[in-house]
Amino acid sequence: MSLTVIKRYLTSSLVPLTRHCSTQTIKPIPEVPKSKGTTVDSNDVKQHGELCDKWWDLDGPMKALHTLNPLRVQLVRDGLANVGWREVNPAHPLEGVKILDVGCGGGILSEPLARIGASVTGLDMSKNLIELAKSHAIRDPSLSGRLTYLNTSIEEYIRTNAGIYDAIVASEILEHVADQELFLKCCADSVKPGGSIFITTMNKTIPSYVGGIVAAEYILKILPVGTHDWKKFISPEEVQRMLDKVGCRTKLIHGEFYNPISNRWTWISSTAVNYALHAIKTEEIKK
Ligand SMILES: C[S@@+](CC[C@H](N)C(=O)[O-])C[C@H]1O[C@@H](n2cnc3c(N)ncnc32)[C@H](O)[C@@H]1O
Repeated sequence: MSLTVIKRYLTSSLVPLTRHCSTQTIKPIPEVPKSKGTTVDSNDVKQHGELCDKWWDLDGPMKALHTLNPLRVQLVRDGLANVGWREVNPAHPLEGVKILDVGCGGGILSEPLARIGASVTGLDMSKNLIELAKSHAIRDPSLSGRLTYLNTSIEEYIRTNAGIYDAIVASEILEHVADQELFLKCCADSVKPGGSIFITTMNKTIPSYVGGIVAAEYILKILPVGTHDWKKFISPEEVQRMLDKVGCRTKLIHGEFYNPISNRWTWISSTAVNYALHAIKTEEIKK
């Protein structure tokens, strides 16, 4: 079978598959979460750091992250508007908003958020990627003073910076961290009461295994083999449960669909493969 035929088969079969499979169809065996005491999976961080040279290549291994930007910028902008953030400057609608971009990599999402006015702090455990993010940001003078990049983990950072952000963005990182429960607790700790938590990640379903690993890594080779570990994929219900435990109320869960042929993302109702979530930190933290 030629590659074109395989691609055509995947696009025609994946869409209906993902649309009709809901998370209710698969009941993962509940696991007792074991705290690993750190959010950092060193092998994973190393693997991402090795992609440094190709991070900003629009046709490289990060190409799907580049084209995910319109959806995730909309998620943040609309999410903040829905919780009452008033846009005063139409040219810079996020002016005055303090955002923490955790696992920012080379800054693919940090930059557009800063470009529309937000004051963004990007954290990543990969030193190479933080260096890359800094050097890339210098190319655009309009970003000057709006972006700060730090090579650290969230648990380390919030030791001295808890509760100071209006929003935290954790995009395509939850499926890479060592301890997801600890990671989400740190996300909650980073924002002020009433602050927003924006997450994009991958569901733990059969379609996510087929689409996110088999197709993306082995057939279409969009991502290097080993980028994702299905065991770390997580259902929206599980994320919601973990956030609830740390005093965060989930406000929105929405599915995202990636078309590998057009390299475009669209919002869909099914959360079977990729999804976005917006939660709010409530005043009272449940212990
Ligand atoms: C798939 S990339 C996503 C990058 C960025 N969020 C984006 O969407 O453009 C995941 C990033 O998370 C970083 N990372 C993984 N675990 C981390 C942790 N515990 N603390 C900080 N960064 C982490 C990796 O080094 C990598 O750059």
